[in-house]
Amino acid sequence: MKFNISLLFLLAFAVSSCVQNDTNTEKDQDKSEAITVDSHSYSNHHEISTKHLHLELDVNFENQTIYGVARHEMNSHNAENAIFDIKELKIVKVTIGKGNEVATDYVIGKHDELLGSSLSVKIQPDTKYINIYYQTTENSEALDWLSPEQTSGKAHPFLYTQGQAILTRTWIPLQDTPMNRITYSADVTVPKGLMAVMSASNPTEKNLSGKYSFTMEQKIPSYLIALAVGNLTYTKLGSICGVYSEPELAGDCAYEFSDLPKMITTAEKIYGKYQWGKYDIVMLPYSFPFGGMENPRLTFANPTLLAGDKSLVSVVAHELAHSWSGNLVTNATWNDFWLNEGFTVYFENRIMEKIEGKENANILALIEYQDLLAALNDIENSDHPEDTELKLQLEHRNPDDGMTDIAYVKGAFFLRTIEKAVGRKKLDQFLNRYFKEHAFQSITTEVFVADLKNNLLTPNKIDFDVEEWIYQPGLPDNHVRIESKKLDDMTKLAERINSGEDVFVGKLKKLTRADFITQEWQTFVRGLNDKVTPETMKKLDDQFEFSANSNPGIKSDWYKLAVRNGYDAAKPEMEKYLIKIGRRWYIEGIYEALMNSKNPADQAFAKATFEKAKSGYHAVTRNTIAGIVASTSSATK
Ligand code: BES
Ligand code: ZN
Repeated sequence: MKFNISLLFLLAFAVSSCVQNDTNTEKDQDKSEAITVDSHSYSNHHEISTKHLHLELDVNFENQTIYGVARHEMNSHNAENAIFDIKELKIVKVTIGKGNEVATDYVIGKHDELLGSSLSVKIQPDTKYINIYYQTTENSEALDWLSPEQTSGKAHPFLYTQGQAILTRTWIPLQDTPMNRITYSADVTVPKGLMAVMSASNPTEKNLSGKYSFTMEQKIPSYLIALAVGNLTYTKLGSICGVYSEPELAGDCAYEFSDLPKMITTAEKIYGKYQWGKYDIVMLPYSFPFGGMENPRLTFANPTLLAGDKSLVSVVAHELAHSWSGNLVTNATWNDFWLNEGFTVYFENRIMEKIEGKENANILALIEYQDLLAALNDIENSDHPEDTELKLQLEHRNPDDGMTDIAYVKGAFFLRTIEKAVGRKKLDQFLNRYFKEHAFQSITTEVFVADLKNNLLTPNKIDFDVEEWIYQPGLPDNHVRIESKKLDDMTKLAERINSGEDVFVGKLKKLTRADFITQEWQTFVRGLNDKVTPETMKKLDDQFEFSANSNPGIKSDWYKLAVRNGYDAAKPEMEKYLIKIGRRWYIEGIYEALMNSKNPADQAFAKATFEKAKSGYHAVTRNTIAGIVASTSSATK
């Protein structure tokens, strides 16, 4: 037996050494990958990897189960086992072969809370097709099954998936590492009357049989495989773009996202042709844990974006920007997450600058800067102060821990600071080349750093401390400063209130919420401190209706302040908000403020509200909030 395998190995070696060019490039890539370890995957993808995945999925709302077959077509290899990632999946059987399938042995490794288990499948060195028959379970964290009452139309159920960072393994058995890129196709059956859409080629009309087929012809990492099923209708917004939503939201979506065609042409002008064919958005229910998720060809979006005044569309610019930074060039491991998000926040702002002008773009960047300062402070005082470094060390930790404003905003400031040093023109030339050169690849921070030095800094004789930015904690002193008179004015107004002045008299008495844009109000609310009494909070609320009627971004900041300042009258609206909205970044700070409050009634309120809300949250948000309400507040420690 041993003899046979080594003979086969020798044969394969002989064959591979005389193959033509493109396989050589694949081999070269393998070599550099071999030194990069993804500590968040059990898969042996360096040895044997999926090339194409075909899914057969039967989506059953009654049992809240997906009955699936994952048909993996493997690259050539010499392996005796293929190791996949699974978490909370029921494996029914595993076969090898196509057409003529033969059952094969498999071993499921020990369950790990974070990573799930390995699924090791016995194969032959010539095995090309591995078919895994499986079912999802009630603990499949990627899946959010919604009852009709939780949707806008209230008549049909809804399902969506969230794969990033390591949740795809909870609904598909696969090699769940961003280092391995695959093409995929799918045949999906859903109840009649519902439409299925994926991060792939999509239908634009409902199909009476409930059967839909999909293909994604470009190679993508596993975290970008996504599915949504619901009572969806398609509204075209431009030649290559449109929005899927429940019919009740179609008009609002069309209004809010009317700038989408312009955003796409703008983005293409900056960093080159859009590579994914179509760019659509699907509007999910409020429980969706993020503002947006960049699933290729089909961004998943949260209805909180429907502010009615386009004030939150920068999230769409962000997800669109990921079509370059993230989806074309992907972080090889979750320690390199900033390569996805920092570049995207930088690019997002460039798009917004073209769409809304420099002044507004600066306002958006300054709001992020405020978030960054708060994040730096939090992280420096946490158990992991090293998390303020751009390159992360997340081994044995949830990659979700890396989803902080460090990756996003420190990352973007790094690029802005480089832009200032070399000039926009040269940085754009570099990035255009970078996106072309590494298109459809997953790369590490180190590959980027070498590229930056070799192709931008050294040729232009720019002295720039890249290491400090990427491998040192905190925000380097040379970071660019962004200014906005409009936001400064709001901070000044807040400071006058902080000092006890009754400013809302005379001309100011006539001000309404409509007089300033969302980000101005956010700056105002963030500028108010704990000296503001509940009485003044009430006056502000009466005049500007922050608690009841403001945009969800303002509400999120206002409720935190309400808790800090003991303004209890905000509680009924706060409770409604926390029950309705599952967007994690909007609600986690409120729960934290409640748990950190000196008033024990606030902690009881947080716990009671979470009990009411949790069945409506996606697992991503539910797990985070469960951790917050379980913690002892710092005030009572
Ligand atoms: N890809 C992220 C969301 C994400 C990150 C999901 C990590 C899971 C793990 C998405 O592009 C994102 O950044 N969304 C932000 C948008 C904002 C920064 C404009 C959000 O949801 O708030
Ligand atoms: Zn992002």
